[in-house]
Amino acid sequence: MSDTLTETPLSGAVADTDARPLDLVADFPAIPDGWSYLDTAATSQKPQMVIDAITRGYDTTYATVHRGVYQRSADMTLAYEAARKRVAGFIGATSPDEIVFVRGATEGINLVAQSWAGTQLKAGDRILLSMLEHHSNIVPWQMIAERVGAAIDVIPLTEDHRIDLDAMRAMISPAHKLVALAHVSNVLGSVLDAKRATKIAHAVGAKILIDGCQAVPRMTVDVAEIGCDFYVFSGHKLYGPTGIGVLWGRGDLLDVMPPYQGGGSMIDCVSFARTTYAPPPGRFEAGTPHIVGALGLHAAIDYVETIGLDAIHAHETALVKQTRKALAQLNSVTLFGPDDAAGIVSFSIRGVHPHDIGTILDEAKVAIRAGHHCAQPLMEMLGVDATARASFGVYNGAPDVEALVAGIQRVTRIFG
Ligand SMILES: Cc1ncc(COP(=O)(O)O)c(C=O)c1O
Repeated sequence: MSDTLTETPLSGAVADTDARPLDLVADFPAIPDGWSYLDTAATSQKPQMVIDAITRGYDTTYATVHRGVYQRSADMTLAYEAARKRVAGFIGATSPDEIVFVRGATEGINLVAQSWAGTQLKAGDRILLSMLEHHSNIVPWQMIAERVGAAIDVIPLTEDHRIDLDAMRAMISPAHKLVALAHVSNVLGSVLDAKRATKIAHAVGAKILIDGCQAVPRMTVDVAEIGCDFYVFSGHKLYGPTGIGVLWGRGDLLDVMPPYQGGGSMIDCVSFARTTYAPPPGRFEAGTPHIVGALGLHAAIDYVETIGLDAIHAHETALVKQTRKALAQLNSVTLFGPDDAAGIVSFSIRGVHPHDIGTILDEAKVAIRAGHHCAQPLMEMLGVDATARASFGVYNGAPDVEALVAGIQRVTRIFG
């Protein structure tokens, strides 16, 4: 099997990475004409080449991995490990051994919480999070903090809804052993200066985990350049399959972390007297992995890199600006987040529940998300129960913004 799974060509005007606006909707069979899919922050639609890679993975080439006495399994192992190598290159990791395949960002964070924090933190230590975190980057830390007797502090946001790094610098202390922050907010789209946050964390000797779920699909990410200790993301938000995600950890940290789960594949030698464990990343991948998920993720990375992450970022930022500009003219609309948000716009309409906004937009064939977006502390801070959220992907363009704005105007007319 070839380790390159990019046989289906891209459509649209993307041969030149500077090409803007992108015109890629034809690559996505699940997006019919006239439907504006604006819920990419929840999960992205899949391009044909990812679907093809998954199909190929399950039909003529399918076998298990890491049991390679027969050729098919040896080939599949090569393809699975090639996906790991591809991920490493994609995020600037030093070695594929630093890439742990997990089910998604949630599992990656839980792994670090249980394995790293569970063994390194003690009573009296502190963990630093921010007000805009997804529940996936709050609850695992609360669980471990409760177990070891650590405390959690919360960095506030600036007026324009970014994580306030000046406040972070003022509040962090040597008692803080771990900082965990979102690279891009899934509600506000605000982008963290991850390099500066890392410097602030390291200045007091704390480790830092960056939740890159919303960053990896919309901007170039280089963990070496950031300098962080852990980075997590989910494949399904990056145009890849569900059930596969990535934990990147610095090699020296992964080396000393105990396993998160026990089972097949993660061992060196098992006896009833004593079991020894495989080195990373195998140590953290108990059981038969999501083999075809890794192949799909490989294809997804090929897809976005062919377009270019900088071009994607520019495209989505432009769509956000157009949307915010149009919505700012409607008196009853409140916009959240900064003007330079990456791909995501949250808003509310005075007197209208976000679920009603979502339902009326659905009638106009515009799919948005309404709710607390798994960020209830942020909702409380914003003084709302929920927001409406439009989030863009590579398949969106100006017609989607127009459909969204027209739909919102209709909502304001209906509700007077
Ligand atoms: C910022 C952020 N972190 C974590 C997650 C959790 O991702 P998953 O459910 O794929 O594990 C999400 C999903 O919406 C997210 O947006």
